Amino acid sequence: MEIKGLSAIVTGGASGLGEATARRLAKAGAKVTIFDMNDERGPIVASEIKGRFEKVNVASEEDVQNALEASAAAHGEARILVNCAGIAIGEKTIGRDNVPHDFARYKKVIEVNLIGTFNVIRLASARMAALEPLATTERGVIINTASVAALEGQIGQVAYSASKGGIVAMTVPLARDLSGIGIRVCTIAPGLFLTPMMKGLPQEAQDSLGASVPFPKRLGDPDEYANLAQHICENAMLNGETIRLDGAIRMAPR
Ligand SMILES: NC(=O)c1ccc[n+]([C@@H]2O[C@H](COP(=O)([O-])OP(=O)(O)OC[C@H]3O[C@@H](n4cnc5c(N)ncnc54)[C@H](O)[C@@H]3O)[C@@H](O)[C@H]2O)c1
Repeated sequence: MEIKGLSAIVTGGASGLGEATARRLAKAGAKVTIFDMNDERGPIVASEIKGRFEKVNVASEEDVQNALEASAAAHGEARILVNCAGIAIGEKTIGRDNVPHDFARYKKVIEVNLIGTFNVIRLASARMAALEPLATTERGVIINTASVAALEGQIGQVAYSASKGGIVAMTVPLARDLSGIGIRVCTIAPGLFLTPMMKGLPQEAQDSLGASVPFPKRLGDPDEYANLAQHICENAMLNGETIRLDGAIRMAPR
């Protein structure tokens, strides 16, 4: 699909991988709307890319419906959806003194990362389905963000890994469900990327994480994620696949 002139939604677009994707899609000529909870940074990024910002909790049906309505009115119905909104926590199944994993925190990670991703997909794809197909016969493309933690979650990543594993698991059935109407679905499973979360670590810790990547021996640049997201939009044969983007890292237990 040719990106130029299309309406695109990037969740989590106020920061990190989503921000890089919003910037890259805008550069390629898309009309981008950022769906994010961060209403300080979101509007700044949106104005820099001449796009729009909607304050959205991806796990809220009402928020997402209203934001889809507003972005369609301003930019036309979106044919591109990139799901980057996500949160991470670290907590073991049982902690010190055998205290069980906090239940609310576990549910929260699943709610934002897995249920939130699916919420935006189901509401956005229902609207894409009503569009005329493009010359390529595609109606739309959806890109999700998992993590290498979906496949080799580390100690303390039980909630996060479950949420990301769910995203990997739903990629094929989503692609199958939506194949009849020409909507493709792919997932990117990033390794270690230099986003604000990582930038908060001391340089030494960043260097040591970077050195743990077989090649290239560094943290990923968010624009490398965005570059793959752009390629998935443009390459119509990519569908139903989870693509690792990780410099061949395989995470150790800790
Ligand atoms: N950075 C990495 O190394 C890495 C590795 C693997 C996977 N990921 C995944 O990539 C995605 C982006 O990560 P990042 O590093 O860019 O993080 P980030 O914290 O920089 O950006 C995440 C964005 O999501 C937004 N967000 C959080 N909860 C939300 C909600 N309920 N509704 C709407 N927006 C919400 C935040 O406000 C933030 O702007 C996440 O899903 C993360 O799990 C990141």
